[in-house]
Amino acid sequence: MRDLRISVTDRCNFRCTYCMPFDEYTWIERQQVLSFEEIERLARIFLRFGIQKIRLTGGEPLVRKGLHGLVRRLAKLEGLGDLSLTTNGALLSEQAEALYSAGLRRINVSIDTLKAERFRALTKRGNLDEVLAGLFAAKKAGMSPIKINAVVIRGTNDDEILDLVQFARANGFEMRFIEYMDVGNANAWSLEKTVTKKEILAAVNSRFPVREIGRANGSAPAVDYEFLDGAGEIGIIGSVTEPFCSTCTRIRLTADGKLVTCLFAESGFDLKALLRSAASDDDMAEQISKVWAGRVDRYSDVRWEQVRGGDYEPRVHKKIEMITLGG
Ligand code: GTP
Ligand code: 5AD
Ligand code: SF4
Repeated sequence: MRDLRISVTDRCNFRCTYCMPFDEYTWIERQQVLSFEEIERLARIFLRFGIQKIRLTGGEPLVRKGLHGLVRRLAKLEGLGDLSLTTNGALLSEQAEALYSAGLRRINVSIDTLKAERFRALTKRGNLDEVLAGLFAAKKAGMSPIKINAVVIRGTNDDEILDLVQFARANGFEMRFIEYMDVGNANAWSLEKTVTKKEILAAVNSRFPVREIGRANGSAPAVDYEFLDGAGEIGIIGSVTEPFCSTCTRIRLTADGKLVTCLFAESGFDLKALLRSAASDDDMAEQISKVWAGRVDRYSDVRWEQVRGGDYEPRVHKKIEMITLGG
């Protein structure tokens, strides 16, 4: 394991149609949510295993009160090469400076469209102007790189690929396109709606020629490309049509302390139960090691095999929702 994704809350101020469109949900009870002290203790244990990157996720991580306090704790951890955050950006303009001061140096912001009405329809509760203000506040605070994540959905926002690239290039952000995935059970995913990595690349190349660089550390979800004219980079995450399970080094911790070894997992290991018993750090390390050693996940590989064989049925599998898992 090399990358730890920590979800700090399952609450979200948006209801993106491709993620968790329902108003109500079985939310994690407050007393079950890990405190910052508990998260820090676990993070220290994970670092023993060679974790190099920690990413904070949600739900929407910025709805967790005082998140900069957690950032301050984690930024101090010795041996941690990279601390980052994935956010919908709605609360970023008010928090960017505090997060930067606490030690956060880079973020990924989800923006699927630059059309205000379409943005509202996709997120159900979001305001594009607020998110753009957050994005520029992060830039002003000094964060770099700032990546913009866009899930590309056929018939919804696939006509905006070039506009998004143009916007990112013009403002010094790194655009990343994500194939629409069948995460969780709540979205209305279908293979037809997934615009493939190949199609996305062809669209980008038609106006902004790029050259492939590859995956960061050989294991990142995104394949990176640089513009031939030197104006920066983009990334494409093709987990449906070009799965990358064989190089996956990610482990996930949910807001209520479940250890999850795959984005498409049905359940996780209850680390919080141990944490809140008298378990020592060594006891917990031993359990983490067992969970990781026993890992057999390769969901995206299997899905692609089945999709090609014509017998993939997403709803057979009862996955943990992405809002709980943190993406
Ligand atoms: P960087 O460190 O900036 O490259 O971040 P990242 O791409 O790892 O994180 P981010 O939260 O921005 O995730 C971007 C997309 O990649 C999201 O749609 C994630 O769900 C997806 N993703 C991240 N990890 C995995 C994974 O292990 N498997 C699959 N299939 N998708 C993943
Ligand atoms: N398919 C692909 N990406 C998704 N995300 C959320 N739901 C999906 C989905 N069904 C993305 C968000 C965010 C990242 C953490 O995951 O847009 O950028
Ligand atoms: Fe890793 Fe599971 Fe994603 Fe494959 S599908 S890359 S195993 S998280």
